[in-house]
Amino acid sequence: MNELIQKLVEAFGPSGFEDQMRQLIRPEIEPYADEISVDALGNLIARKKGDGSGLKVMIAAHMDEIGVMITHVTEEGFLRFTNIGGVSAHTLLGGRVQFADGTVGIIHADRFEDAHELHPLSKYFIDVGATSRQNCPVAVGAPAGFYRPLLVQGSRLSAKTMDDRIGCVVAIEALKRLSTTPHDLYFVFSVQEEVGTRGAQTAANAINPDVGIALDVTLTGDVPEARPMAVRLGAGAAIKVKDSGMIAHTGLVRLMRQRASAANIPYQLEVLDGGTTDARPMQIAGPGCAAGCISIPCRYVHTPSETVDAGDVEHCVQLLVEILRNPIDL
Ligand code: CO
Ligand code: ZN
Repeated sequence: MNELIQKLVEAFGPSGFEDQMRQLIRPEIEPYADEISVDALGNLIARKKGDGSGLKVMIAAHMDEIGVMITHVTEEGFLRFTNIGGVSAHTLLGGRVQFADGTVGIIHADRFEDAHELHPLSKYFIDVGATSRQNCPVAVGAPAGFYRPLLVQGSRLSAKTMDDRIGCVVAIEALKRLSTTPHDLYFVFSVQEEVGTRGAQTAANAINPDVGIALDVTLTGDVPEARPMAVRLGAGAAIKVKDSGMIAHTGLVRLMRQRASAANIPYQLEVLDGGTTDARPMQIAGPGCAAGCISIPCRYVHTPSETVDAGDVEHCVQLLVEILRNPIDL
């Protein structure tokens, strides 16, 4: 699984520019899917048919990452930019981004009058080594993702895009391990989650599932002076009860807990104060469906060093497999 994790977390794919991610994931899932399709927005959808006795289940993990987009190139060849998704200024100074063609840029900012102030994003710039607008290899409209290799320290894995490439890994791994299922499964590798769960919305409208399960990271409360939160790294798969965009279907939460207990999979309950996932658009698409989320606990979300625990990742895979290979009685 580590090789797959490295491949996906280091790849380029800001919201709306997920082509490279689609190319990486497709060959991983092709041997295990009955049908593969790509919709107009770019969602990659793998269907695995059941025996006809189960429900229609959509599983969603987003391929996109937060990033930046160039808004202006100065005479001297520096690049001004805007955000793609939830980028905070205090994660930027001295960091690096990478463009679709591999060009790497260094992020810095205009002089700070006051060391305690935080500039708006408009006062940051990117240096790609150009000396003028003419020889700058990057143009207005170019998207970039953050640039950082995977770091492995014992069971801890850190990367720029655990959100949500690790969810993609959980989906791929579960699909590989599922030999048979009673359910009609749609594994959706969704686009544009970070700019408002747009891909999962169109996919859920088209698929019209009975049950929707998102796979995404969640915050933890286990670092110094963290916002109080019960989720800890290494304490198992997190079963979402509520976040700021969705209250999980109570029957689905009960089923997830039962499956985890029956299979001796460590789990924790998650109530997230800020943010939401692809479970929200699934829940309210069409006539609505029973939606929930299996979350991978993650420290430092939306920084270039998002950190998860390999044990938690494995337990999320196991929990998803247990849910999908058994009857779902809500
Ligand atoms: Co995110
Ligand atoms: Zn996410």
